[in-house]
Amino acid sequence: MEAIQVGLLGLGTVGSGVVKIIENHQDKLMHQVGCPVKVKKILVQDLNKKRDVDVDPAQLTTNADDILQDPDIDVVIEVMGGIEETRNYLLKALSEKKHVVTANKDLMAVYGSELLTAASANGCDLFYEASVAGGIPILRSLVDGLASDRITKMMGIVNGTTNYILTKMSKHGRAYEEVLKEAQELGYAEADPASDVEGLDAARKMAILATLGFSMKIDLDDVKVEGITRITEEDIQYGKQLGYTMKLIGIAHREGEKVEVSVQPTLLSDSHPLASVNDEYNAVYVYGEAVGETMFYGPGAGSLPTATAVVSDLVGVMKNMRLGVNGANAVTPQYQKKLKGPDEIYSKFFLRLHVKDEVGVFANITSIFSEHSVSFEKILQMPLKENGLAEIVLVTHQASLQDYEDILVKLRDLNAVHEIKSSYRVEGSARI
Ligand code: NAP
Ligand code: HSE
Repeated sequence: MEAIQVGLLGLGTVGSGVVKIIENHQDKLMHQVGCPVKVKKILVQDLNKKRDVDVDPAQLTTNADDILQDPDIDVVIEVMGGIEETRNYLLKALSEKKHVVTANKDLMAVYGSELLTAASANGCDLFYEASVAGGIPILRSLVDGLASDRITKMMGIVNGTTNYILTKMSKHGRAYEEVLKEAQELGYAEADPASDVEGLDAARKMAILATLGFSMKIDLDDVKVEGITRITEEDIQYGKQLGYTMKLIGIAHREGEKVEVSVQPTLLSDSHPLASVNDEYNAVYVYGEAVGETMFYGPGAGSLPTATAVVSDLVGVMKNMRLGVNGANAVTPQYQKKLKGPDEIYSKFFLRLHVKDEVGVFANITSIFSEHSVSFEKILQMPLKENGLAEIVLVTHQASLQDYEDILVKLRDLNAVHEIKSSYRVEGSARI
């Protein structure tokens, strides 16, 4: 029985996990696809680096063509990261009629449609389950499990690093820098962790989720992004006091034909199922018109969880090879993209202000909110030690983003407002 030969691009956190799973689960793989699976060649940068997994040094190469041009290699698994060079490698692999599995959301968020088109044109599979939410089979669930439904909302904790940081800050009072370093050491963070903490990694994943969930081509530029770097200990504590948990939340919401997709630090009602998703765990809450609420939960990063998704994609490729139906899976978006404007995006908002502690100041502030018909759900006011200042913390009822942004402009101009300390979206009291 001839083995399926795999070429691996990368042998870092995820690549090592892939080698381990292929070795350790060989019996199960054999049973599922009817033949052995063998990793033939592995592309790395440094041939002499100490590895987390035992591999024959002869398997390692620094020349990508040893994989891309080897006619015996059927499937290329890309777990090296990066965008431009990687795109070229995968286009070359597809043109050589090799199937591709990738964990690379940076690449798929930018060149996904080009690569899927190339795969289809070459009769090849291109699967990328591990690119969103690590070990959670969310892409397959959207495309297959919920194929019959119309999805209207997805809310996700889709970045393990930031969820790990926020959990440790919020539950254990630990410092941001120290916990970020720990997340890097545990292998959760990207090579450049700025893409985690600035929200870009989550935005890429939300673009992929929204494209599949809404069958609409959502580009990275369509996603409004903000990361976790400006969150303060005070904001986390005020949130707790008011019944909210601070999370980096991706939101993809469809109403009628229009959608919004965003990633931002959000104060989430403690009663929302996403509020109890902690550490490096991820979860995607999906609302479908027929199914109602569903939630997909699991490890969002790390070696073996992510490798599970990669090797499951490999099994998908191999099953298709056996059936002779590779390349038949490409899903072309059904709908034209229509994005909501700020006057069509509704939410509650949390605002923390430092104001002059004088008669009439609060009345001035409330009148600005009244001009936009925005009312308050919760308000706290405390005197500050700083001379003559008070801190006001408030949560609005539902308001349009446009009204809220106009209110912020007017508050900044108000003489009595010393500083707008922080502002967050508030979600989760009503689920849809
Ligand atoms: P990593 O630990 O940094 O490993 C990258 C591997 O690729 C290393 O073995 C490196 O070689 C090799 N490599 C990088 N650039 C190369 C180049 N230009 N030429 C040849 N080899 C190159 O990265 P990772 O954490 O495994 O992540 C890999 C991919 O999976 C990324 O796209 C990431 O976003 C995605 N992902 C990661 C996770 C996670 O939890 N880590 C989860 C989901 C998805 P050397 O070892 O010789 O340096
Ligand atoms: N850096 C990513 C995260 C890896 O923390 O979620 C998984 O995609």
